[in-house]
Amino acid sequence: MLPESEAAKCLLAVLGLLWVARWVVYLACDVLGGLRKFVWARVWEEDLPATYGKWAVVTGCTDGIGKEYARELASRDMHVLLIARNIHKLTDLQRVIKEESPGVMTEVVLVDFSDGTGVYDKIAPFLHDKDVGILVNNVGVNIKPPRPFKDVSEEDLWPLIHVNVASVVGMTRLVLDGMLAKGKGAIINIGSAASGNPLPRAGVYAATKAFVDFFSQSLAWECRGTGVTIQTVRPGFVSTKMINSYTKAFTKPRLLVPSSSTFVASALPTLGHSDHTSGYWIHGCQKEAFYQNQQRTQHSSDKTVHASIAWNPEEATPLCAMTQLMSQSTHWIMFLFGPTSSGIYPPLT
Ligand SMILES: NC(=O)c1ccc[n+]([C@@H]2O[C@H](COP(=O)([O-])OP(=O)(O)OC[C@H]3O[C@@H](n4cnc5c(N)ncnc54)[C@H](OP(=O)(O)O)[C@@H]3O)[C@@H](O)[C@H]2O)c1
Repeated sequence: MLPESEAAKCLLAVLGLLWVARWVVYLACDVLGGLRKFVWARVWEEDLPATYGKWAVVTGCTDGIGKEYARELASRDMHVLLIARNIHKLTDLQRVIKEESPGVMTEVVLVDFSDGTGVYDKIAPFLHDKDVGILVNNVGVNIKPPRPFKDVSEEDLWPLIHVNVASVVGMTRLVLDGMLAKGKGAIINIGSAASGNPLPRAGVYAATKAFVDFFSQSLAWECRGTGVTIQTVRPGFVSTKMINSYTKAFTKPRLLVPSSSTFVASALPTLGHSDHTSGYWIHGCQKEAFYQNQQRTQHSSDKTVHASIAWNPEEATPLCAMTQLMSQSTHWIMFLFGPTSSGIYPPLT
């Protein structure tokens, strides 16, 4: 029964107003935070060599997001140590950077991170004489096509863990002491929005990215007050070789699936402004949308099916189209008519 006295009505009205006020304050904080990260940071660009140090180191730099970090850092007057596994692509990138940023020095290190822990001894001598300002732990791979863990071969499994997990820890070990001694520097760890959910059929990939996220956040906490910045970047879909090898749906960059250059032009300026970011404002909105949706589905009996679609882009395309609406109603549409009830997504095997 509803209370009828004036006092009770007043109390309910006050509670309602407080709830709305809380919501408005949170929204305003989110919007201001977003403006600071993605607008102000681009207007007020930092002098990267002066703030962090002269050299940048980028792993997995011959394609996609890593390549754009290397080019963008060079365009901001940083010398770049380029690390990847294909010498032709490495020397080609050196040439591109020389043309685009003539005053900048580059060096290449040819390593395959899937070879295991020996690669760090090979990289270390290249770092000795350098004022390393920024490390971008970018290198990452996934298993193609997505499949249940029982079908993942040994040959696919251990390289994935060496590349996605060990490289982040190994490279951080190589540069962190030097940065701490100087009292400046930055490490950018490229995680993934995929780490936000359990991801059946790409469970190991998502878990490696959850490792990156948690390791990076812990390190950020430990480095507080030292002058060293640790940033976690968790992109959503970016149109790169990695994604395009799964599906043709994302070959053409668009608002929700930017090109790697659009993504990095947005992500790099957030360094120093945010320790934990999607790197790209639309992906930030997507994260909120999926997060809220996930919270609801946590109460459903088949909660992981929601997550499983996310790493099967061919089949998830209808979902992606829906998320373009990016509105609250989308969450409800997905919740009411989404994979758990519509059957358009295959069951887990
Ligand atoms: N694209 C996305 O939608 C997306 C979303 C979230 C997170 N991410 C993350 O972003 C990072 C970059 O992904 P991307 O999409 O730019 O990938 P990509 O286009 O496939 O580029 C990966 C880069 O890493 C290099 N690489 C791969 N395996 C290597 C190994 N074993 N040793 C040395 N270098 C190796 C590749 O060299 P080659 O040129 O020789 O192949 C290439 O330069 C990854 O950590 C990924 O998990 C990507």
